[in-house]
Amino acid sequence: METSYGFRNVAAGDKQPLVNEVFHRVAKRYDVMNDLMSGGLHRLWKDAVVAWLNPPRRQGWRALDVAGGTGDVAFRIVEGSGGNAHVTVLDINGSMLDVGRERAEKRGLAGNVDFVEANAEELPFADDSFDAYTIAFGIRNVPRIEVALSEAFRVLKPGGRFLCLEFSEVDMPLLDRVYEAWSFRAIPRIGKAVTGDGEPYEYLVESIAKFPNQKNFAAMIERAGFERVSFRNYTGGVAALHSGWKL
Ligand SMILES: C[S@@+](CC[C@H](N)C(=O)[O-])C[C@H]1O[C@@H](n2cnc3c(N)ncnc32)[C@H](O)[C@@H]1O
Repeated sequence: METSYGFRNVAAGDKQPLVNEVFHRVAKRYDVMNDLMSGGLHRLWKDAVVAWLNPPRRQGWRALDVAGGTGDVAFRIVEGSGGNAHVTVLDINGSMLDVGRERAEKRGLAGNVDFVEANAEELPFADDSFDAYTIAFGIRNVPRIEVALSEAFRVLKPGGRFLCLEFSEVDMPLLDRVYEAWSFRAIPRIGKAVTGDGEPYEYLVESIAKFPNQKNFAAMIERAGFERVSFRNYTGGVAALHSGWKL
């Protein structure tokens, strides 16, 4: 079986090692590159995840942030819960998690956050474990998205919330052309200038272009068993936040 790795098709089993290499290479500069590539917008989109999630200000509430990388979403959830929530950051890449652990210590959030190195397609947790599952800019990197979605459904408690932030289809005339030029011309060049290596950023941009649009992704979430599936667009659809419930 084949899957896409950027614009290339590769054997399903070959995608994950290629993705892992990308994030090993970018881990140390990941946060600064996120700001440069999105002009800081990723911060607002991540704030929107937590605003829609609205984590309760009570102890014992647990979220799982998959493909959580350097911890941005997890830290926001803890802060949004007034320091009450516990968030598990899960990522397949130890280099990204190392940066996340260091950041959690610096922010004094280490008591609220733990870090697990594992695959979104094979979550090392029992059924019905979490109140919320979040994934930001992660799912397009996972080779078998359907498997990751069914794992999300499995580990959520009944009544649990699924939220996925991902780059999506721009639905504004003009903005789509500006966005395309920015993505394909500027981002790999900025990546090369900042990190000395443009190739990982070519993959990132291509993987965005290959990801299903808002409606098709909503249908995939429904097929995994989620109900009341809906989405919100940000910045004309540059990013979309999908929501679903395990009821
Ligand atoms: C673009 S980063 C997003 C990081 C973070 N969520 C954020 O928004 O800043 C994508 C992350 O997905 C992780 N990843 C890729 N494939 C994965 C998989 N199969 N399971 C878990 N994490 C994965 C990568 O290691 C990387 O940290």
